[in-house]
Amino acid sequence: MKKPIIMDCDPGHDDAIALLMALANERLEVRAVTTVGGNQTSAKTLINAMKVLSFAGIHHVPVAAGASKPLVRDLEIAPEVHGDSGLDGPELPEPAFSASPLSALELMEKVISESQVPITLVPTGPLTNIARLLIAAPHLKQKIERISLMGGSAVGGNWTPAAEFNIMVDPEAAEIVFESGIPITMCGLDVTHKAQIFNSEIEEIRQQGGKVAVMVAELLDFFAKFHQEMGFEGSPLHDPCAVAWLIKPELFISQNLHVDIETCGEYTDGATVVDIHGITGKEKQVDVVFDIDREGFIQLLKDSLQCYHQGEVRS
Ligand code: BDR
Ligand code: CA
Repeated sequence: MKKPIIMDCDPGHDDAIALLMALANERLEVRAVTTVGGNQTSAKTLINAMKVLSFAGIHHVPVAAGASKPLVRDLEIAPEVHGDSGLDGPELPEPAFSASPLSALELMEKVISESQVPITLVPTGPLTNIARLLIAAPHLKQKIERISLMGGSAVGGNWTPAAEFNIMVDPEAAEIVFESGIPITMCGLDVTHKAQIFNSEIEEIRQQGGKVAVMVAELLDFFAKFHQEMGFEGSPLHDPCAVAWLIKPELFISQNLHVDIETCGEYTDGATVVDIHGITGKEKQVDVVFDIDREGFIQLLKDSLQCYHQGEVRS
């Protein structure tokens, strides 16, 4: 049976690729896409998600707008990474369908409560929507199988020396999620900085056939410019790791550990404090992902994009 998931995202170049990977895979069933303010404002991330699905010819998955700001802080966005639209690079037509009349919170509640089997949540942006869901409907926790998220790191940040962007934008939400008791897979910078795609592989994607692959190559061209200026050899495909871990966990190496969220440190605000040596003795609630078979992961991406070209993705 396919694993039912909800993608909660802030597209975002790597979010868009994560969405396309999830929607193409026969092991996953995307029951809803919810969006959140993060890489860009919530108005832009909603439109971006709808544009990506429309371009890929997917009209059966509801897309709902979520939180426009973090639980208690002002929203910080990342136009330097993702551009003014949040998805700069390819020319994407306007969406071919309307957003769900439900809010992200209402749609998640509906999908989870109506499901016969537990749902897996895949957040690839700030955790605001997920925290709001857990606050509003704590009884639904038992129907959430796992949260496979992109965020945090055991060592070092990318937004501050200590904090990764998704957690830094809304640490109070992250704290609620990490203390929820729901099993968590944390694809943080430890693994995503190893999940890089190189220019030669972007060219292979462009040449592999199909308009979705060409669009992904154009997204990656834009994404690569920022990362090359930052000194990376390739571009880290952060968000697709959270999806790939569900499809092919054998590509990854992780350790089950306790993780706390820093919400008030002078230098460490927004950090995920990973108890690598088991010093706190607290419950090990997080599978912290540290390593990846990079080539196997890139092959999974190429195979996913091939499914669009061959008409194998449900519209
Ligand atoms: C995360 O921040 C965003 O810019 C990316 O989409 C990813 O989710 C990486 O720190
Ligand atoms: Ca993201």
